[in-house]
Amino acid sequence: MILANKLNITDQIELARAEEKISKQKAKQLFDSGNINKAEVGKFAGLVFIHAYLFEEIYAFAGKIRDVNIAKGTIAFARVMYLEASIKHIDAMPQSNVDQIIEKYVEMNIAHPFREGNGRATRIWLDLMLKKEIQQVVDWNAVDKDDYLSAMQRSVVKDLEINALIKQALTDQIDDRALFMKGIDVSYYYEGYSEFKTEEL
Ligand SMILES: Nc1ncnc2c1ncn2[C@@H]1O[C@H](COP(=O)(O)OP(=O)(O)OP(=O)(O)O)[C@@H](O)[C@H]1O
Ligand SMILES: [Mg+2]
Repeated sequence: MILANKLNITDQIELARAEEKISKQKAKQLFDSGNINKAEVGKFAGLVFIHAYLFEEIYAFAGKIRDVNIAKGTIAFARVMYLEASIKHIDAMPQSNVDQIIEKYVEMNIAHPFREGNGRATRIWLDLMLKKEIQQVVDWNAVDKDDYLSAMQRSVVKDLEINALIKQALTDQIDDRALFMKGIDVSYYYEGYSEFKTEEL
């Protein structure tokens, strides 16, 4: 069933298109306005800030913890009744080196706190941790889509593959606007959205 949305769109293709366009515009604004620096790094509150920023014009659930259980493939993400406890635990996880940061990212993915848009918001959240704690970010263009998705599926059991994949893509270009915009495009491409270039919106 198509998600209820503030745009009152009932056609799923049209909704996907509008969601991509509007939220990419918001991602661009998040960087250019400097508002991205207001997100609390490594905390759920920071992820809420990013998610709300990207999706508030589209969905009433933007920045809100989901109230339905969700699954992908054979994986069920954290059940609603355990979600708050899980988030509390993740907030307290350490983030002082790259291994800890990737572990934290993997746990937040397993929590999947929002109804939709988890992948895209959480990758921005990951980059903020890397930027602050180790002065590096991911060059998402150096992470192949199929490799990424298979490593994320595997990460529920073991984070070896996602750990290696992220490490080989780290770059020192932490304030590079073009790298950020390209990263948004690649992140959206992982989720099947590739109609608009963030830079051109
Ligand atoms: N089977 C899986 N097991 C673990 N993680 C997964 C699995 N499938 C996808 N993921 C991770 O979840 C992210 C988002 O997937 P999903 O489509 O379920 O969430 P979403 O809330 O719709 O996010 P988005 O709207 O950004 O795509 C993927 O980018 C990947 O990191
Ligand atoms: Mg999605």
